[in-house]
Amino acid sequence: MTKGELIKDILKLKKERKAIILAHNYQPPEIQDIADLRGDSLELSLKASKTDAEVIVFCGVIFMAETAKIVSPNKKVLLPVKEVPCDMADMITVEDVMKLKEEHPNAKVVTYVNSYAEIKAVSDLCCTSANAVKVAGKIDAKEIIMIPDMNLARYTQRFYPDKKIYYFEGFCPFHHFLTPEEVIECKKKHPNAVFIAHPECKPEVIDLADHVASTSGMLRLAKELDDKEFIIGTEVGLLYPLQKENPDKKFYHPSPEKMLCKSMKKMSLEDILRSLETLEPEVILPEEIRSKAYQAVKRMLETV
Ligand code: 13P
Ligand code: SF4
Repeated sequence: MTKGELIKDILKLKKERKAIILAHNYQPPEIQDIADLRGDSLELSLKASKTDAEVIVFCGVIFMAETAKIVSPNKKVLLPVKEVPCDMADMITVEDVMKLKEEHPNAKVVTYVNSYAEIKAVSDLCCTSANAVKVAGKIDAKEIIMIPDMNLARYTQRFYPDKKIYYFEGFCPFHHFLTPEEVIECKKKHPNAVFIAHPECKPEVIDLADHVASTSGMLRLAKELDDKEFIIGTEVGLLYPLQKENPDKKFYHPSPEKMLCKSMKKMSLEDILRSLETLEPEVILPEEIRSKAYQAVKRMLETV
């Protein structure tokens, strides 16, 4: 089957199934191009909570599809490839959260959406990279446990010297291992470029950034700023929509081989077509977990 035929069949079946296709900004270009909505984690969870489609085809990783199911329990949520874990989400267990809660009994638990449903279910509130700072500011607590990303927690702490943010030592390997040296080297090659870092990068890298933003925040900045050259400190897949939306601007990456999330590249157009045909693999969550996780996601959606 040619690519054109595949796309034609996907669009036809999507209509018949009353489905919507959501894709994260890191997905392969051909998937971004056929999606009804491409966005960051916050935009995707908002869209999943509002759509009137009967089926949500989620092109991303497991925690994102789970979030869609959490906010839309009566819809069929399909994840076209079953095994798309998130290395950061895999780092933390419910026992780890319970231990932190015991150590800091007065703290509220703010959980990055990049975590599995069972972790959200034992949290007070969720956040994404786009709203973590806002959520931490709005929450009525002097002490916060922010999990599972220590870099997002340490970045958020910078805004609230009067609050104490405890963190779990989890991280995204595709952001955490970007080094200041790599950024400095790239800056030397492109002295006029503005450096935008994702908050999943470590503090020494954040210190070098002109701006810190979620993936969709980076897309907005690239469009809005008058600058013509940008160094992009996030997973390399974001370069595709950046370049597509800004053909007159230049985008550079400080470490393209290292910052490539394999899980985000596992899906293909063939998988999407098969999933629409079979309505499998479907995301199923135990209702007890889903409803508890929903409270944490709902509180986040109410604060943004
Ligand atoms: P955002 O797109 O929400 O910034 O998240 C980045 C990420 O690592 C998703 O896996
Ligand atoms: Fe998880 Fe990092 Fe991949 Fe995002 S880029 S899905 S946080 S491993």
